[in-house]
Amino acid sequence: SDPGLVARARAAKEALGSRVFVLGHHYQRDEVIQFADVTGDSFKLAQQAAARPEAEFIVFCGVHFMAESADILTGKDQRVILPDLAAGCSMADMAVLGQVETAWEHFQDLGITDQIVPVTYMNSSADIKGFVGRNSGVVCTSSNAKRALDWSFEQGSKVFFLPDQHLGRNTAVLEMGFDLDDCVLYDPHKPKGGLTDEQLRDARMILWRGHCSVHGRFTLDSVREVRERVPGVNVLVHPECRHEVVRAADYVGSTEYIIKALEAAPAGSSWAVGTELNLVRRLALAHPDKQIMFLDRAVCYCSTMNRIDLPHLVWALEELVAGRVPNVITVDEKTAHEARVALDQMLALP
Ligand code: 13P
Ligand code: SF4
Repeated sequence: SDPGLVARARAAKEALGSRVFVLGHHYQRDEVIQFADVTGDSFKLAQQAAARPEAEFIVFCGVHFMAESADILTGKDQRVILPDLAAGCSMADMAVLGQVETAWEHFQDLGITDQIVPVTYMNSSADIKGFVGRNSGVVCTSSNAKRALDWSFEQGSKVFFLPDQHLGRNTAVLEMGFDLDDCVLYDPHKPKGGLTDEQLRDARMILWRGHCSVHGRFTLDSVREVRERVPGVNVLVHPECRHEVVRAADYVGSTEYIIKALEAAPAGSSWAVGTELNLVRRLALAHPDKQIMFLDRAVCYCSTMNRIDLPHLVWALEELVAGRVPNVITVDEKTAHEARVALDQMLALP
């Protein structure tokens, strides 16, 4: 990265001292991650944001829904800053509150809402988390999805899972022993979700039709191809990947799980990793004694995560030094309160 910008970022951070706390998601660029006080997956970052009450400014190097969660979990006088407001998440954008409420009204007409526990993946907007909170549900991340579903099936007999169909299906089928037929796909762009009343009454998992465009690019062919090319390779993927890809893989887990699995892997072993490329590259560099490669031949960054680059970080930090507070992410009080109920429920999972 540009040495001038590195020096400016360092100077601005030093000038701000403990007033600023920089959080970095594992998918961030190297040039940004070097300035993170803490790195983590979305679950760890949510916990870390809450653990720094003395920091006036939380600079969130990640995407919009993560910054919203940080705002919900931190104190009123703490401000959360997203260095580029265009850093959204296409998956989170696939569930819009109005659509979700329309679906819920339909479930109400069918008389099944008493049995349904809504569960939303962390990768959703604050108002979706608020919807889940006011309907006695829970937030989950890729590292606690099974625990969240176990809890939900103690509260009811059905789960309405938002917005990532793959995480929902993979957890239910591969970790909880459900049949694929127990899951139905609710398409918000079709009347009644494209489902019959009977399908909705019978389903145990009602999956929202959302997905991650980055992890969705790995296919069964990517797995077959790497197994042919690298004999003995271990295939390790994120649960946002398609069901058939996760099924064909050897290991599946969140970004924190992937990091730990590769740390623990024996020297000389080979790994094809199906997750975002910034993280895979960093892991390959960190473990030169192991052969760590990207699962697909195509390059696959999360373009919105990548929007946070060093120039944006320097700009945000220097604005703070100058006494201005740019790109503040705030969730309105009512939404924040309801979303917090669902987030606290997650943090309290056994
Ligand atoms: P985790 O950080 O929970 O593994 O999620 C991955 C992701 O896609 C974040 O956007
Ligand atoms: Fe969203 Fe996928 Fe990017 Fe994660 S990797 S921020 S789920 S688009």
